[in-house]
Amino acid sequence: MRILFLGDIFGRPGRAILFERLRQIRRDHGLDRVLANGENASGGIGLTAKAARQLLDAGIDVLTGGNHIFRHRDLTPFFDTTDRLLRPANYPKGAPGTGCQVYRPKDGPPYAVLNLLGRTFMAPVDCPFAAAEKALADLPGDVLVRLVDFHAEATSEKKALAYFLDGRVSAVLGTHTHVQTADAQLLPRGTAYMTDIGLTGPTASTLGMDPEDVIARFRTGLPQRFTVSRATPEMQGALLDIDAATGKVVTITPWRLA
Ligand code: FE2
Repeated sequence: MRILFLGDIFGRPGRAILFERLRQIRRDHGLDRVLANGENASGGIGLTAKAARQLLDAGIDVLTGGNHIFRHRDLTPFFDTTDRLLRPANYPKGAPGTGCQVYRPKDGPPYAVLNLLGRTFMAPVDCPFAAAEKALADLPGDVLVRLVDFHAEATSEKKALAYFLDGRVSAVLGTHTHVQTADAQLLPRGTAYMTDIGLTGPTASTLGMDPEDVIARFRTGLPQRFTVSRATPEMQGALLDIDAATGKVVTITPWRLA
């Protein structure tokens, strides 16, 4: 089973490259599933219902979220219309949507996706470790392919969660920093891990935004309106080859397409 998990789709350029290239990439790589973090897809912050629908229609099987997922209010009712959009499972009780879902496609093995949010250097939410334990305890036994998107700032928190889940999930993939890391690896008990799978958007930028705006914010300390960079977008993510009979990742490869 071959899965491409794309890093944060950023603004219009990120959506554009995906609409343009995804179907061909699916064919070229023989992809069974494509997943992506979508929480920066609208204007670089948040996700509108319209963009979510377009991304799902364009061939993304499952969209995951993060700290900006509830930015656009029209996304809240959208959660009731699809099971292919997740928000972090460790949002406090009562948040719209769900953070873990099992998918049973007709043309492949079942798989689960769990979305979690970090707490270090981020706004406080419930414990991601406890949320992961609960989500895994609730998963049906026949669902062996289990993918975790850990949307978090701190490398230490990402690695800690990955080791905590080692051997219990197929992969723990980091998102949120928008910089692809060079540490794709298999942990001792077989879980695949990468600290951050990167950005689907304008990478020659400050995390997707125009550097001029960000420089001004740092230099003056004053609030600035950030604009999405006009730099050429690229796609970044992680390519996973998984033994569906065991749920173990055979290879994890950092992936990018300029
Ligand atoms: Fe984020």
